[in-house]
Amino acid sequence: MNVKAVRALVTGGARGMGRHFVEAVRDAGGLVAFCDVDPTAVTEASATLGVPGFACDVSREASVQSFYDAASAAIGVPNVLVNNAGITRDGLFMKTHPETGEPIMMDLARWQQVLDVNLTGPFLCARAFAAGSLRAKQPESVMVNISSISRSGNAGQLNYSAAKAGLVADTVVWAKELARYNVRVGAVAPGFIRTPMTEGMKPEALAKVAAGIPLKRLGEPDEIWLAVRFIIECGYFTGRVVEVDGGLVI
Ligand SMILES: NC(=O)c1ccc[n+]([C@@H]2O[C@H](COP(=O)([O-])OP(=O)(O)OC[C@H]3O[C@@H](n4cnc5c(N)ncnc54)[C@H](O)[C@@H]3O)[C@@H](O)[C@H]2O)c1
Repeated sequence: MNVKAVRALVTGGARGMGRHFVEAVRDAGGLVAFCDVDPTAVTEASATLGVPGFACDVSREASVQSFYDAASAAIGVPNVLVNNAGITRDGLFMKTHPETGEPIMMDLARWQQVLDVNLTGPFLCARAFAAGSLRAKQPESVMVNISSISRSGNAGQLNYSAAKAGLVADTVVWAKELARYNVRVGAVAPGFIRTPMTEGMKPEALAKVAAGIPLKRLGEPDEIWLAVRFIIECGYFTGRVVEVDGGLVI
């Protein structure tokens, strides 16, 4: 599908990579609407980018359906979904108290929040999107899921690794199940990319990360957009992951 023919939904589009995808679709001549959980950020981004934006928590069923309906009214029945919204709540699965040796466990809330946003969110958005595409008998629809290289299992990110690995598994299932309805599905697994998510890390930690990447730097949102665009435009691509990580292997 040529990006000019796109009517795209981008989740988590008010900042970071999502915001860049919104701008890139707009600049390429496609139509785009986005959602974000932060209503103030939605208002700012929508006004600045000149693109319809909606407050929505992707982990909540009713919120997702409202977003889908409002965005469809604004840009027409969407034919591209970018499941981009995501959060981290890093921490070790288990550590011990330095004095008592007592085990300190990852709490359930930290696990659940990440699974809710990063895995249930894409499930709910994919469901609304695919149902709308089937009803409209779209000749072609494309879903792009933003996973992470942490899907291989990154220490300190048990919750995030599980969600991002699950999202890749779901990419394959959706590709297999939905091909008969002309829906293609792909995933992108970025390495460390320069966004507010990584800008929250301590500079020493970021420098250490960059030193361990073969290309010796963080990636840029536009380098991830190139992979998203490839999945949208390549009609023979489905059920696979594009890794864009500067050569970093976790
Ligand atoms: N930055 C990286 O290095 C990196 C690497 C690999 C994968 N990723 C993934 O890429 C995606 C984008 O990351 P980013 O770095 O731009 O993050 P970011 O934190 O800069 O932006 C994420 C956006 O998602 C929104 N969001 C959070 N929870 C939401 C919810 N429940 N409903 C709707 N919107 C919600 C946030 O408000 C924010 O605007 C995420 O899925 C992330 O896991 C990022």
